[in-house]
Amino acid sequence: MRIAVTGGAGYIGSHVALALLQEGHEVIIIDNLSNSSALSLQRISLLAGRSAVFYQTDIRDSEALRRILRQHQVEALLHFAGLKSVGASVSDPLSYYDNNVQGSLRLLQVLQELDLRQLIFSSSATVYGPQQAAPFAEDAALAPSNPYGHSKLMVEQMLRDLCAADARWRVAILRYFNPAGAHPSGLIGEVPRGIPNNLMPYALGVLSGRYPQLRIFGQDYPTPDGTGVRDYIHVMDLSSGHVAALRQLQHRAGCHVFNLGTGRPYSVLDVVDAFQKVSGRALPYVLLPRRPGDVAASYADPRLAEQALAWRAERSLEMMCADAWNFTEHNPDGY
Ligand code: NAD
Ligand code: UD1
Repeated sequence: MRIAVTGGAGYIGSHVALALLQEGHEVIIIDNLSNSSALSLQRISLLAGRSAVFYQTDIRDSEALRRILRQHQVEALLHFAGLKSVGASVSDPLSYYDNNVQGSLRLLQVLQELDLRQLIFSSSATVYGPQQAAPFAEDAALAPSNPYGHSKLMVEQMLRDLCAADARWRVAILRYFNPAGAHPSGLIGEVPRGIPNNLMPYALGVLSGRYPQLRIFGQDYPTPDGTGVRDYIHVMDLSSGHVAALRQLQHRAGCHVFNLGTGRPYSVLDVVDAFQKVSGRALPYVLLPRRPGDVAASYADPRLAEQALAWRAERSLEMMCADAWNFTEHNPDGY
């Protein structure tokens, strides 16, 4: 198929674009490079043995989008482009509504105009409310607690309304839990800009000597070791989940929502142990009070995706840590 990938130069998009190239699809990447480097695209060409077409374009530029999608006669679109920092969304909400909501709205208008009605959207487990008890199934109440989460839920709602209005749409909304890891080659992975807020990139910064110690936020949660538990999912499993969702859309119209997670909760201390084991290095940490806004436990009920997509996340926490460390060691300053 001819598939457009918005945000395809970024962390998750680059891994999925590679998987699509390896499946034999023609891939057209649209990314404004606001949070990524075009070098990721050279790396995926190297790994796939062929290249994606790349346009440095903003998804809010409807005219350019229309031209690109028409020119390549795109048949399906995977929509990763957007901003993703919870903290930044609290301090600068309008950027999030502009990039994520307005950007998606413009994109959907162009898709509708071009009769291109096959779409996969990157949503997040952050749409589940903090008052929900894990595991989260797709029908759990939705109540995001920050502008980033609101922006994801708004786009989800647009997609549900579109599918209700026109039965020709084929849409998969994928709610990722906590993506982690990197391609096993060490050629592509996550390159955080600035000081990371998330556990995995910060822990990698400690392992590589950039930060003196990990700050563990909370040791009194009602979890087995008192630290927060999350559902970390290997980015390679996430990629195969997109390939499976795309395959499923060939057979089923309508709007389908799937959690992409392993369903296995791991604590912050489990992550520390795994990193120490795979790197052979000490990961010093200090125990601090809880971080405001954090929940004790967030993990998926992954059964719907497993049944409907015939897909399952298979890679272990150790593999995530080993592959992420491999990428960091080989690319200490990013791309
Ligand atoms: P990323 O920042 O690495 O990738 C996003 C890409 O989109 C970047 O390459 C960026 O340059 C591009 N982009 C941003 N705004 C754009 C715009 N207006 N026009 C064109 N390109 C634009 O992030 P990621 O981790 O790969 O996340 C991909 C998607 O998955 C995002 O939508 C994110 O919200 C969602 N998601 C990510 C996580 C996570 O933890 N990484 C979790 C759940 C959901
Ligand atoms: C965060 C976002 C969530 C987003 C997800 C993407 C918040 C409140 N939530 O979720 O919306 O979808 O990232 O992956 O930001 N931790 C530490 N020390 C650190 C960093 C984190 O102890 O330096 C702990 C946290 O308290 C938590 C766990 O590690 O228990 C995971 O944190 P993080 O990686 O930030 O992910 P989430 O909080 O799940």
